[in-house]
Amino acid sequence: MPYQRPSRSLPPTLLLVLSLCVSAWALGREPALPTQAEITEESAEESTEVLVARAVSQLSYIAADYSQVATGENSGDMQLLAQLRGHVDEVEALLASLPDRPGRGQLTRSLKDLRTAIERRADAETVRRRANTAADRLAALYQLPRSPAELLPTAEEGRGLYRARCSRCHGDAGASVAGTAVNADFADRSRMAGFSLYDLYNAIDPHRDDVHGPVIDGDLSSRQRWALAVVVAGFAAPPRMPPLGLAKRYPGLVVQPGVATVRPAELPQDARQALMWWRAYPQRARDMQHPLTRAAGLLQQAQTAFRGGDSAAAYHQLVLAQREGFAPVSSELEARDPALARQITRQWQDLRQLILSQGPENEVVERFQTLTTAVIRARNQLQPSARGWSDGWAILLLVSAAGVGWLLWIKLLRPRRR
Ligand code: HEC
Repeated sequence: MPYQRPSRSLPPTLLLVLSLCVSAWALGREPALPTQAEITEESAEESTEVLVARAVSQLSYIAADYSQVATGENSGDMQLLAQLRGHVDEVEALLASLPDRPGRGQLTRSLKDLRTAIERRADAETVRRRANTAADRLAALYQLPRSPAELLPTAEEGRGLYRARCSRCHGDAGASVAGTAVNADFADRSRMAGFSLYDLYNAIDPHRDDVHGPVIDGDLSSRQRWALAVVVAGFAAPPRMPPLGLAKRYPGLVVQPGVATVRPAELPQDARQALMWWRAYPQRARDMQHPLTRAAGLLQQAQTAFRGGDSAAAYHQLVLAQREGFAPVSSELEARDPALARQITRQWQDLRQLILSQGPENEVVERFQTLTTAVIRARNQLQPSARGWSDGWAILLLVSAAGVGWLLWIKLLRPRRR
């Protein structure tokens, strides 16, 4: 998929239109149908997710660690280089073992490009970008959920667990403890900026033993892993809360899925710093955002879950979006625009019903889109003064286009710095 770099400083409306096109493109694709084997064997479906997550994790390591070998020639560098090539081999093998999807061939080619770049000792930026692009494509291709089904837990929730199970190797402040096998320094900002919160969550993986044995993380629940990821991210967080204006400027980064899936290193400097703080304090980041922005983010997540074949998670997130995003402002909207308030309430109910009764897939996806549009209208009604809201919403809509959308979005944002 070739990306067109848009010209600088696009007018907000154009941004919006562009993002709608991307969303429409993403939505217009046929959801990949499960194979017979996947239908009959539920465990097969589960293991697909585990395998995809593992491959994404390997790619994120390549992206983060290659910069250490980019210049040197000593034996340590050669060793690390061999290890990174080994990661590419492993990802290729994993991909070959996954069920075929349209787009897999292209992904295989991107992995070849990545390997070539590593072998030719390309610059760190090129390798980082190729590895992350491949990871995003892979996640999009197999609809891997990279944001928690619930709202992100706070660091407090994971701190006791961290002290009990992690600090003997990773230290109380995230610096590796002498005498352990650990090199990783969680307080190293530039390295940590290369990981999304999801990448950290993914490294604390109970399904594999190559990083941590089962005694360390074999029994952790998904919620505990997210709480630990937030703790780990906290070691590299800037000391001060970012200015509130940044939350308005980058609304997609204070709410899920953005706060969990975006790698700070991909962002302009101000957004990068801010995201490193927001993801360490997800509750406070959430509170900075208009509840309907939260609702729209959760609706996107629900839609991703649904398109990935997990209608239980989709239903759950749909309800969560209603409770956490719409309920807090429904009476305010009722007073401002009763017709719209009623319409949204009804659409929410209908969609819940449709998912429960296992209605046709394309209809469900369509209604997700209609509901999101209505929520956006409501948000605009309640906060018309929010400067640059259309940019904000354009960004949020781009989130819905998952993987590929992110890349485009990042390209849209980047020129703004200059
Ligand atoms: C026995 C020592 C040990 C313990 C205990 C341990 N880890 Fe690790 N951890 C490692 C090693 C070794 C690595 C591989 C990366 C490296 O070389 O530093 C690693 C890697 C990681 C990474 C990947 C990030 C990166 O920068 O590479 C994360 C995240 C992580 N550990 C979190 C945790 C958490 C959370 C706990 C507690 C549940 C924990 N670890 C407990 C040894 C340990």
